[in-house]
Amino acid sequence: MKSLIDILDFSVEEIDELIYLANDIIDNPKKYSEICKGKKLANLFFEPSTRTRLSFEAAMYELGGNVIGFSEAASSSVSKGESVADTTKVISCYADIIVIRHPKEGAAYVAANNTSVPVINAGDGGHCHPTQTLADLLTIYREKGRLKDLTIGFCGDLKYGRTVHSLINALTRYDNINMVFISPKELKVPNYIKKDLLENKDVSYEETTKLEEVIPKLDILYMTRIQKERFLNAEDYLRLKDSYVLTLEKLNGAKSDMSIMHPLPRVNEISVSVDKDSRACYFKQVLNGKYIRMALIIKLLKESMNFNFDFIGYVDPNTMVNIMKDNKRIRNLNTERHKRLTNLIKCNNPRCITSTEQELEHIFELRDKEDEIYRCIYCEAKGNR
Ligand code: CP
Repeated sequence: MKSLIDILDFSVEEIDELIYLANDIIDNPKKYSEICKGKKLANLFFEPSTRTRLSFEAAMYELGGNVIGFSEAASSSVSKGESVADTTKVISCYADIIVIRHPKEGAAYVAANNTSVPVINAGDGGHCHPTQTLADLLTIYREKGRLKDLTIGFCGDLKYGRTVHSLINALTRYDNINMVFISPKELKVPNYIKKDLLENKDVSYEETTKLEEVIPKLDILYMTRIQKERFLNAEDYLRLKDSYVLTLEKLNGAKSDMSIMHPLPRVNEISVSVDKDSRACYFKQVLNGKYIRMALIIKLLKESMNFNFDFIGYVDPNTMVNIMKDNKRIRNLNTERHKRLTNLIKCNNPRCITSTEQELEHIFELRDKEDEIYRCIYCEAKGNR
């Protein structure tokens, strides 16, 4: 059964289909208003959320379906010690599709391995947030008319910001994307993303601490919050929390059509005065999030629907990619690239689901044959012997 754990689970063609479908839903909402009649979506939120949880709810209701679930771990039997695997097995007896947000990295993948219904990762720790990425891609497409030939600045917490990691992953597949990473030196993009993704695929990127110096060349500025909840030390958070605050004054040097994006919630990294600027897109991004999630639910449930999906196979020339970059992730754990090294190495990432889930086998995937680098299949941390 198809799930969405990481944005690389979908090919570029599949993402194109979703964008096409979301645009059709925006233009023709009535056409889709009963398509999920009789279907149930379960929202399993072990971490706080406003947009992701409620947009999935709104999306399912607007498709004619129903929603069950919980919005905090304390109100589920996880508080009594139930595992993610058991919770998922149980919920799949009640629901046709599962959406899960969890603080542990790899939790959604564990869920997908323990159910026969589609699972959607709504954020796993600091790792991935693929449905936010779909909302971001739809927004970029609607604002710019293309997903290629763009210079994109990512600003803020690039170490723990899962939305940034997923969006970088997605954008590496499109042609002529230049990435500019703007962060304090303590919160830079993790090395595994720079090495495995950007350098191996020859994607152009630069790193800086100074937003003002690079803002004039940006087509898109993607602001992010400093992720307080991921810091192991409160003092570090207090020192870094106001690293970047975007004001109207700072926008003076920017292009007149630069799009300002933010996955939200914002704390104070974008001044409220910027909201009125025509370049501010972050509330449009929220609305796009609902439409793309409607498209995603349809895509994952379509095999059990009686509907003529004549858009399947649609590829927009504006998002055409060099096929070499379309590195769809193949999730098959039984290839020679996977090692079960339980006795030799364990995942040392304290945020990984392997640190809490009962009897979960530690499995590593060979990502770099030359340097023999294995990464945990759940959180992608490097396996150290
Ligand atoms: N962007 C986002 O994930 O927002 P929530 O945490 O409110 O879901």
